[in-house]
Amino acid sequence: MVTPLLPLKMENVSVRRGGKTILGPITLQLADEGISILLGPNGSGKTTLLKTMHGVERPNTGTLQWNVGAEDARLRQAFVFQSPTILRRSVLDNIAYPLTLRGVKRAEARDRAEAFAARVGLTRVLDQHGMVLSGGEKQKLALARALILEPDLLFLDEPCANLDGRATRDIEEILLAVRAEGTRIVMSTHDLGQARRLGDEIWFLHAGQLRETTPKGQFFSEPQSDTARSYLRGDLLP
Ligand SMILES: Nc1ncnc2c1ncn2[C@@H]1O[C@H](COP(=O)(O)OP(=O)(O)OP(=O)(O)O)[C@@H](O)[C@H]1O
Ligand SMILES: [Mg+2]
Repeated sequence: MVTPLLPLKMENVSVRRGGKTILGPITLQLADEGISILLGPNGSGKTTLLKTMHGVERPNTGTLQWNVGAEDARLRQAFVFQSPTILRRSVLDNIAYPLTLRGVKRAEARDRAEAFAARVGLTRVLDQHGMVLSGGEKQKLALARALILEPDLLFLDEPCANLDGRATRDIEEILLAVRAEGTRIVMSTHDLGQARRLGDEIWFLHAGQLRETTPKGQFFSEPQSDTARSYLRGDLLP
């Protein structure tokens, strides 16, 4: 049996940038299945936390311990950034790229890319240049490029920011299907409706501090922190 990637144990992790602490210290264990939704006002540290967990931001204090070795852990997770990087090549080759990077033969990579393009609804634009896609299509491309790695853990940073209702619904359906297949998801959003639709639990961040990690039902009816209560009321948080 393959050793599970999770739990991830984070202990006392903090990030300092520009002379101030922008995140933490955070102690947290990521385990189980499902979707954790990261909520919090602009600048609260959502992107920094996601990137730190994924290993693309280095913490200044603390440790992250995966259940497997660091290299194995790196290969078994994927990240969809808020502004996806689109490579100067076709949609198909954009999606195939992570596989070719990992040494999969080009023909096989392209076959699998075609299947993942279909999954996110990009079949129609497969041969187009990636750069000419619309914003929503670029997000779908980024999602397909992450899913093609069949990650055990998927991070997404506001994957539906700037998308219309239809594109958002498409992406939400894909994420729920991916979750049902057993992929653990951690994603940030500013969309409370989306948090309700997708989240199993809510992580609430404010000023770099993780104020609570609460099951969704409870978060929306009885948030544990004053700041989350204010946030849900729509107050402007300092
Ligand atoms: N390299 C850096 N140097 C200095 N400050 C930084 C750096 N990176 C991030 N910050 C600051 O850290 C804070 C947290 O940023 P982060 O991008 O994680 O917030 P966020 O919750 O994702 O916000 P948003 O909702 O706007 O995406 C912000 O105040 C930001 O200005
Ligand atoms: Mg952010």
